[in-house]
Amino acid sequence: MRWSRHWRGWLPLLLLIVLIAALTACTSPQTTFSPKSEAAGRIHTLYILITVMASLVGAAVLGALAYALIKFRARPGRTASQVHGNTKLEIAWTLAPVAVMLIIGAPTIVAIADAAKDPEPDALKVHVVAHQWWWEVEYRGPADAFPPGVELPVITANEIHVPVGRQVSVTLESADVVHSFWLPQLVGKVDAFPGLVRQVPVFTPQEVGVFSGLCAEFCGIAHANMRFRVIVESLGDFKRWAESLQTPPSPSTGLAAQGEQLFMEKGGCLACHTVAGTDAQGKIGPNLTRFGSRTTLGAGILENTDENLRLWISDLREEKPGALLMPTFQDTLTEGEIAALAAYLRGQRVE
Ligand code: CUA
Repeated sequence: MRWSRHWRGWLPLLLLIVLIAALTACTSPQTTFSPKSEAAGRIHTLYILITVMASLVGAAVLGALAYALIKFRARPGRTASQVHGNTKLEIAWTLAPVAVMLIIGAPTIVAIADAAKDPEPDALKVHVVAHQWWWEVEYRGPADAFPPGVELPVITANEIHVPVGRQVSVTLESADVVHSFWLPQLVGKVDAFPGLVRQVPVFTPQEVGVFSGLCAEFCGIAHANMRFRVIVESLGDFKRWAESLQTPPSPSTGLAAQGEQLFMEKGGCLACHTVAGTDAQGKIGPNLTRFGSRTTLGAGILENTDENLRLWISDLREEKPGALLMPTFQDTLTEGEIAALAAYLRGQRVE
């Protein structure tokens, strides 16, 4: 009876341990447990080392405490003996923390130095500007990473294409408030400040895939909806993508042609957005060149489908509340016109 009551006290703790174990088994796009670049691998290795060391220290301290509690517990007729000074013990509890600090500290210092290394000359240079609440992406070089004829900078938004196996050097700033660029499977987290360009640690993506990033610094009401994706692809796919961002799009036909006209005239979209090769050269909102090939819209919050794009154009605040600059078009355009705009943008694909 006494023991069962005793164990009941431990039940919440046990449940918590089980819950934590179960949660770590979840797949999450922002996982830090699955590094796909040497830079993320470095952080992951340190994380595991520190977790193991902390567990060993915790086990040793709690074990010693449990031993003392049981061995020296109160017994009738026994009094505590007072001890003053024990050279062996004092040496032990000085050396043990020093050893722990060295085991953790030495690789940490090496990792910090690695993270601060300058980019290699042939690293892909990507300048990212954080906005409330989206990401502007500008490729600045080197020229040989792009097909001949592509004029730098190449500009896009919210989805960053990079070739596999090539070092990437991201520089970061903000257009308004403090944001934070967090891309856990490829590189650590770096804050973006207005008026200050910062170097993100260089990283080399090791495998093809789509990796999720988000803003990790509270930056206003739509902070949680400020995501981005990094698409790591073969060099050929990367070059095809970069080239098509500057090639005039094929002429739109049918509904899409009607949408193009709305984009350039009645809708007024061209005042804020750029579509390369057209009259639309606005710089306020995200660049929409080859928008149809993006996987998401609204800075990574919705899958890029016809239906979602129509919803977005008609009333984006429904999906992303906040003082967004883009107007809602449900009152100024008809449903048919919005469908035409969506058809135009979704038709702008990488060929
Ligand atoms: Cu940008 Cu939070």
